[in-house]
Amino acid sequence: MTDNTDDLRNVTLHNGVTMPTLAFGCAFGDWVGRSDFQGFLPEQAWRAVTMALDSGYRAFDGARAYGTERIVGTLLGQRFASGELRREDVFITTKLAHPAAPPHINISHKRTWDADKVEDIAQRVRDDMVDTLDDLGLGYVDLLLMHWPGGFGQHTKADPDFPRKARATIWRTFCELADKGAARAIGVSNFTIGHLQALMEDIPEPERRPSVNQVEIHPYCRDPELEAFCRERGIVVTAYAPFASGTFGLLQDPVLTAIAERHGKTTGQIVLRWHLQSGRTALPKTSKTERMVENRDLFDFALGDDEMQAIDALGADAARRTCPDPTSVA
Ligand SMILES: NC(=O)c1ccc[n+]([C@@H]2O[C@H](COP(=O)([O-])OP(=O)(O)OC[C@H]3O[C@@H](n4cnc5c(N)ncnc54)[C@H](OP(=O)(O)O)[C@@H]3O)[C@@H](O)[C@H]2O)c1
Repeated sequence: MTDNTDDLRNVTLHNGVTMPTLAFGCAFGDWVGRSDFQGFLPEQAWRAVTMALDSGYRAFDGARAYGTERIVGTLLGQRFASGELRREDVFITTKLAHPAAPPHINISHKRTWDADKVEDIAQRVRDDMVDTLDDLGLGYVDLLLMHWPGGFGQHTKADPDFPRKARATIWRTFCELADKGAARAIGVSNFTIGHLQALMEDIPEPERRPSVNQVEIHPYCRDPELEAFCRERGIVVTAYAPFASGTFGLLQDPVLTAIAERHGKTTGQIVLRWHLQSGRTALPKTSKTERMVENRDLFDFALGDDEMQAIDALGADAARRTCPDPTSVA
């Protein structure tokens, strides 16, 4: 178990901010293995966020690129209006600097962009943050993440150091936004050890290091070296797609099924408990109320060392990913 968790329900970031270990994932879509990307399902977004609030979720993982911030902000606003919740009761994450998306969803030049093609990166980040804060209507976000370290390698640039310089510019702008109170904590997503090392060389002040690195981790996709690197530097690792987005038959894996039967739990609960006991935070997403409740009901059992190792071993071979491999980003 980690030494910086409070009962595995919260984790303290290096700047002292407390973050819940479970946040509801707000990327609504059905994109895994599909050629026709369907990345915005409005009925699911309105219903699922409503049900998640009713089920007790108080942390929500969003991004400018998900197109759901107005929905999350509006639904939270209703709870504030009724007096049920206050701003400080919720923990809201957003992400900026997503690379350019496929043309059929990249309908707004403001929603996603590729640093390689942006003249004034810092100004774009500031403008996007203003739009995000307007959509959310929450005054500030609790955690602001750099969504991706760059494009996916399809753009060439005369200056091979350009992606690194772009990341440093984005990060300095994030620091400025945090200093102004627009974000309580800042971090990165999809960063490899190389990306982190370069960023911490470029902005060497220890207090300016990322608080969080949000990466794809599930039992079929692990990177123990990256996790150890982050842990040693006090960077919290968050597992996105904690169930592999419902693919690869992960939740039917016989190893997980046997452990679930032993504990009288579901395989989904076993996977989430494994994430928390490994010292990660996680972002489960579901469209079903009973699973929202189930996915938070993780604190009346514990996995043994042998069970943890058996689940670790599932991802020992080549990682099976639902999202692009960040090592392909320069
Ligand atoms: N930083 C990034 O680049 C990045 C990338 C991808 C995702 N994310 C974040 O991570 C979040 C979660 O990832 P994700 O949405 O791809 O997928 P996920 O949470 O790994 O999996 C969602 C799938 O699992 C199913 N499921 C959920 N709970 C279950 C349970 N207890 N038992 C059985 N099945 C269950 C859901 O089906 P039902 O709806 O039918 O229950 C859905 O098909 C996103 O919403 C987003 O916030 C971040």
